[in-house]
Amino acid sequence: MMEPRPAEELVEAARGVGVTEPRLLDAVRVVRRCDFVPPEFRVFADEDRPIPLPHHQVTTQPSLSARMIEALTLTGTEHVLEVGTGYGYQTALLAKLAGFVTSIERWPDLAAQARHNLAAAGIDNVRVVVGDGTGGVPDGAPYDAVLVSAAFPTVPPPLAHQLMSGGVLVQPIGPGGADEVTLFQRTAEGLVRVEPFLRARFVRLYGRYGYP
Ligand SMILES: C[S@@+](CC[C@H](N)C(=O)[O-])C[C@H]1O[C@@H](n2cnc3c(N)ncnc32)[C@H](O)[C@@H]1O
Repeated sequence: MMEPRPAEELVEAARGVGVTEPRLLDAVRVVRRCDFVPPEFRVFADEDRPIPLPHHQVTTQPSLSARMIEALTLTGTEHVLEVGTGYGYQTALLAKLAGFVTSIERWPDLAAQARHNLAAAGIDNVRVVVGDGTGGVPDGAPYDAVLVSAAFPTVPPPLAHQLMSGGVLVQPIGPGGADEVTLFQRTAEGLVRVEPFLRARFVRLYGRYGYP
């Protein structure tokens, strides 16, 4: 099988969308995306584009993942909640940047593959759970940061409640397919919209507080 090239192309793509955080660029450099995609798409893994997953899902484009992670301004100690694990590539990047990552995926086979991929990559500061991520993962709360990888017009209330005071949340806000990736912060008054910082096309967020 042809071995994919080193991830320098993905590092350049991340820089191209404005990512400057050196730890994040290093994470993009060292995490082998080819180990987080279905085998038939391995040869495309170092191209900055989405890759199909089972159940009509797609991976997030790596530069977009990097830009969303940068918006969380992680320092290395945080507990992060990720909603929508997929095959675990973005989870792996988060695990390099934070203290611990709890990630929730609604499809059990995707979660199982993500667990396998993360363990094979030697990443052990993560927990992948199966379920409806619009309800968050209460037993790990409160979180310092939340990253939602699917789109809905509003933030599911449980995610805001499970965020620590001062904590940040990034979610694509929109119907899915034409969305504004938006940064929020939990304050004493509740969840405050800080700014939309990127337009992108995401798959839909399904669940009790998402699409039915
Ligand atoms: C665009 S993919 C992103 C996957 C991964 N984060 C990546 O970077 O490749 C969105 C993922 O969110 C999952 N998803 C959608 N709604 C969900 C929900 N309510 N709870 C958990 N996962 C959900 C989908 O099954 C899919 O795997």
